[in-house]
Amino acid sequence: MRLQGKTAIVTGAGSGIGRATALRFASEGAAVACAGLSADDNVATVRAIEARGGNAVAIEADVTSDDDVAGMVQAAIEALGHVDILVNNAGQAVIGGIDEIERADWDRQMDVNVTSIYRGARAVWSHMRERGGGVILNTASVAGLIGTPGQVAYATSKGAAVTMTKCLALDGARDRIRVNCVCPGWVQTPMVDYHLSQLDDPDAFKARLARLHPLGVGEPADIAAGFVYLASDEARWVTGIALTIDGGVSCGLVPE
Ligand SMILES: NC(=O)c1ccc[n+]([C@@H]2O[C@H](COP(=O)([O-])OP(=O)(O)OC[C@H]3O[C@@H](n4cnc5c(N)ncnc54)[C@H](O)[C@@H]3O)[C@@H](O)[C@H]2O)c1
Repeated sequence: MRLQGKTAIVTGAGSGIGRATALRFASEGAAVACAGLSADDNVATVRAIEARGGNAVAIEADVTSDDDVAGMVQAAIEALGHVDILVNNAGQAVIGGIDEIERADWDRQMDVNVTSIYRGARAVWSHMRERGGGVILNTASVAGLIGTPGQVAYATSKGAAVTMTKCLALDGARDRIRVNCVCPGWVQTPMVDYHLSQLDDPDAFKARLARLHPLGVGEPADIAAGFVYLASDEARWVTGIALTIDGGVSCGLVPE
């Protein structure tokens, strides 16, 4: 088991990529604090881990609240003894072009997707330094690496997540705090389901997505696999990277 004896906090653990990551971490031997907005969803992930013989606790936390994030880290330390790994995964997608995004939506997008990473890193940093190291992982996106039409707020927030990952990696190296991010392509999750439900012709959009991704649209477990590697000691010399896991969507143009 690749994370035996380690402890982790996963935000947004109640669904999608976060739930898959929490489940995979637990199956690799980690004790996992499953954090997120929805207490019921957090508990559902904990129950799924326990049903497979793993160890997990649920922590209700809003990643847009300084107090909640600080409290989340404290609660995890109290429940699990310490924190080796923090996965800043919680996020949302504000869709729209520059003439559609209101200022409040823009601010909300940055708060949920960018400032949340600042909050998480701040809350866990001194704890990891005192323990002689740790791992911080962030969920960015291919949308943060290449331009994406009609997603100016979301893509900008994920670009910031990539850059913050590199800055934190440089700051953390001397204290053996490794910081990396994963850049997923389209992955079948409730976030994507919601986006599709807002469209006039979701089937046409799904067919287009399938064409754009040479290996097809991904599953949450595909992203969890990347997080396991980056969290594990196998990645002990890896910091500051943006690991693209995207079915090939960012390779180049695909013929229609
Ligand atoms: N699904 C994709 O195609 C895709 C692609 C690239 C990146 N991502 C990123 O992956 C991450 C997970 O998204 P997902 O696709 O699994 O969708 P999801 O909607 O299933 O998961 C998002 C989770 O974040 C939680 N969350 C949202 N706002 C929160 C807040 N303020 N405080 C605490 N928790 C909050 C939600 O409750 C939910 O559990 C996000 O950062 C998303 O931007 C997703």
